[in-house]
Amino acid sequence: MSSDHRSGGVRIREGPGSYYLNIKVICNIKMIDEALRVFKDLDSKDFRILTGIETGMKHFEWVPLEELNKYTRLPSDKLEYRLKKLVLDKLVVRTTQPYEGVQIYFEGYDALALNTFVKRKAISAIGDEVGVGKESVIFEAIRQPELAIGGPIPVIIKFHREGRTSFKQVKRIREHIGEREHFSWIYASRLAAEREYEIMKRLYPNVSIPKPFDQNRHAIVMALAKGSLLSKTKLLEPEWYLDEILRQARIAYSMGVIHADLSEYNIFVSEDGVQLIDWPQYITPEHPQADDILERDISNILTHFYRKYGIKRKLDETIDEVKYGTEKSAEAGKESSKGKSYSGSVDKGDFKEEGPQGGDFEDEGSETENFEKATSKKEPSDRD
Ligand SMILES: Nc1ncnc2c1ncn2[C@@H]1O[C@H](COP(=O)(O)OP(=O)(O)O)[C@@H](O)[C@H]1O
Ligand SMILES: [Mg+2]
Repeated sequence: MSSDHRSGGVRIREGPGSYYLNIKVICNIKMIDEALRVFKDLDSKDFRILTGIETGMKHFEWVPLEELNKYTRLPSDKLEYRLKKLVLDKLVVRTTQPYEGVQIYFEGYDALALNTFVKRKAISAIGDEVGVGKESVIFEAIRQPELAIGGPIPVIIKFHREGRTSFKQVKRIREHIGEREHFSWIYASRLAAEREYEIMKRLYPNVSIPKPFDQNRHAIVMALAKGSLLSKTKLLEPEWYLDEILRQARIAYSMGVIHADLSEYNIFVSEDGVQLIDWPQYITPEHPQADDILERDISNILTHFYRKYGIKRKLDETIDEVKYGTEKSAEAGKESSKGKSYSGSVDKGDFKEEGPQGGDFEDEGSETENFEKATSKKEPSDRD
């Protein structure tokens, strides 16, 4: 089967044995993660080695080969042979100084999470890479429906990449082997995924977000969001969508959650409404900077709708609406739960993000801009 789920033309494939087939298919796609490219060649012994390195890294900066020998119970020559391949495939990094040791690399960690998802039947096939975020790599996949009712569900796998370490940096760390900052990414990424999954389970379905299905290590399986990113879409009824986004922010707030990275890049829009994504940095209203962070979230949204559509809303009043609610947002809620006829089109790249020229508008626009500059993105959070 091949079907389009989004305006961008996302293809989902399925069928017996398609799991491996898909991995072959994605070999041809550029920017593919090494783990997926070579995943088809990994067998249970390779996974035992990867798991052994993962376990060893709890105690060692570089897991000594002797330890790995003990853990995997593979004869040295076999272990040596397989390690060479894992290093070539960039799933594992190796050093000889001050002793023979290995570390797992992001792609090796991806392979472990994927293997777990497949075993648990969280996914049944994997497809193309559909996005690289600031701190993640996203692949489309499919999942068999529970109780075999209904068709396969299009999902995505979000691999967290917090504290992403480039291969260059790995080399640098290898050269300064005494440094302690090494590879905290395993823990940072895992924590971020756990945190995001936990909050998504709490918010779904009250807040409109993609349904969370599973989490392992640094990875989450969730439903494919409907529609397209707000940043890439030209809406025909922007007021309605703005109200809907604010309504979702209000529901989240009423459940004790502030997104803390809300912007046009973390919102999907479709004829069904909006879906908010990317939650790991969320905070609660008790956070010492909660008010500033909520203000930044709302300001991001108002700035977007002002620049692109010339819609002018007062920041303070809108924040109050989100915090305390008003008649207007309650009414909007009743209406919007009925759904909406489609009112947008995906930008073809020719849409310029400009607001109208004019005294009042310009003033408010530049005020919001100043606010944006004063507060940088993904700043304080209680994640750390
Ligand atoms: N559930 C989803 N459905 C479809 N695309 C998604 C989904 N989640 C993320 N993406 C895509 O991947 C990108 C990065 O994901 P995001 O959760 O925003 O992580 P980051 O912290 O890296 O920005 C998004 O901008 C979007 O294009
Ligand atoms: Mg994002």
